[in-house]
Amino acid sequence: MPVDDTSRLIGGAAAGSDALVLGIETSCDETAAACVRGGGDVLSSVVSSQVDLHAKYGGVVPEIASRAHNELIIPVIARAMVEAGVDGQRIDAVAATTGPGLIGALLVGVSAAKALALTWDVPFVAVNHLEAHLYAALLEDPAIQLPMVVLLVSGGHTMLVLMEDHGRYRILGQTLDDAAGEAFDKVARFLGLGYPGGPAIDREAMTGDPEAIRFPRSMMDEGLDFSFSGLKTAVVNHVRANPDVSTPDVAASFQAAVVDVLVAKARRAAAETGATALAIGGGVAANSLLREQFLTACTDDGLHAFLPSRAMCTDNAAMIASAGWYRLRDDGPSPLSTGADPNLRLASH
Ligand code: KG4
Ligand code: ZN
Repeated sequence: MPVDDTSRLIGGAAAGSDALVLGIETSCDETAAACVRGGGDVLSSVVSSQVDLHAKYGGVVPEIASRAHNELIIPVIARAMVEAGVDGQRIDAVAATTGPGLIGALLVGVSAAKALALTWDVPFVAVNHLEAHLYAALLEDPAIQLPMVVLLVSGGHTMLVLMEDHGRYRILGQTLDDAAGEAFDKVARFLGLGYPGGPAIDREAMTGDPEAIRFPRSMMDEGLDFSFSGLKTAVVNHVRANPDVSTPDVAASFQAAVVDVLVAKARRAAAETGATALAIGGGVAANSLLREQFLTACTDDGLHAFLPSRAMCTDNAAMIASAGWYRLRDDGPSPLSTGADPNLRLASH
């Protein structure tokens, strides 16, 4: 077979239910690799964060991210395999995030995954990063109850998704402007709390009063879409008008406003769709107040709560390997011609 036939499928044999998938994630500023058996048994999950490289710029610099992924990808994959106690001969498929994300960053992981799949003659599986965040919620709690509503809140996305079945999604609502994580990052930068902003505001809010300032809860009573840019502007205006205001109070009040809206809409989505389970995923799902209020809401509404550990909320490759396992089971291998797509959308398949 000619080596330049990039549209061919490789490793055609169907993967078994205990297939061992190597997952690779490089969509933004984390270089990650993980070995997961059977879609849910995490043998290893290695995440190398580039936060220190980007912190002095106050955000992710795409060119620096790509270069760092290039340097880190092989050592991170090697460590994931050593920690799992496996060599290439034991890997049944290689899954990588093909989008959405930064194009240069995505290409590093996608290229590495294809090269390894070719070398080991196993399937390559293209994984949508957003779909993987949905699967992260299920990784640690296999008692899946479908249909399930997932609140996906990350640095780039804020959406409510109805997961009707594996691979079957309906987007119920999404942000009309900033993502929730983006709002955390922008407000943290404005308050001088550094990058990444979410964890910084979470920490700062611990000593603040969430009722000190009544920030707006945009679109709280309207539908299932979100809007956070007005809230960000309200924070800026309030601090400019009150220069001596306590930063912990601003952080706590801002955080309370975001969480109130997220939880109210997630509950409404579950009620409107009749879903019996509610899950959260994405980096913002690591937020302490959101986690607390999410659990209270699920208890009050009699919903099964899927609350991933903090490490599973933020970007990691175990969720890529898990989503890859389901994708391989349901749709088979992806063609090697599948490219990286920075604007990939969440869609049923
Ligand atoms: O899912 P993720 O790791 O990457 C993307 O796919 O975007 O999400 C990153 C986002 C950032 O905006 C970060 O500030 C936010 O998640 N984040 C948090 C917390 N930890 C991370 N936001 C609020 N509270 C946190 N504890
Ligand atoms: Zn993410």
